[in-house]
Amino acid sequence: MTAIWATGRLGMPCTGNRTGMTTKLHYTVPGMTQSDAKRVVELLQDRLNACNDLHLTLKHVHWNVVGPHFIAVHEMLDPQVEAVRGFADDLAERIATLGGSPVGTPGALVAARTWDEYSIGRATTQEHLGALDLVYQGVITSYRDGIKELGELDPVTEDMFIGQTEQIELFHWFVRAHLEDKGGHLSTEGAGTEQEAAAAAAE
Ligand SMILES: [Fe+2]
Repeated sequence: MTAIWATGRLGMPCTGNRTGMTTKLHYTVPGMTQSDAKRVVELLQDRLNACNDLHLTLKHVHWNVVGPHFIAVHEMLDPQVEAVRGFADDLAERIATLGGSPVGTPGALVAARTWDEYSIGRATTQEHLGALDLVYQGVITSYRDGIKELGELDPVTEDMFIGQTEQIELFHWFVRAHLEDKGGHLSTEGAGTEQEAAAAAAE
């Protein structure tokens, strides 16, 4: 399956929810227009979907890695799962603060997301880390796109996005440090799909 995470589709502008569950805002925070709040809620919902998907994907990897470095990678991932779950909670509560209704059900996530399901099952630590490099690239690119837009709309939500991006970029480095040689080259460089990245990382 193509790794849409890595092709930038996660960075596409969110065109609004497809679930019909969060559209109407009856109030919002003081000093913000209803239309600006609606757009901010859309950006938050898109990141909520990404974080819910990401923490489940990281657990899936935690359970499916095999090979000589199993315990190091298995244990590295749990703090990432916990942190990303916390980000989802913060994003959802920001939606509610702005007068919206966060959508956290799995079916709504799958219906709304603009990326494919993570495509690797049981595999070596290097293969999963290679694929996760692409997952994190997609997630971070979309956060940074959101930050650019929020600079005009809502610096408070922008601040939340910036804080989460800092942590996610750190986790991305933890992953990439396993894929880097001492010359600073990533084994996954140029890979366009999770499968390609996994294969490159395994070489
Ligand atoms: Fe566990």
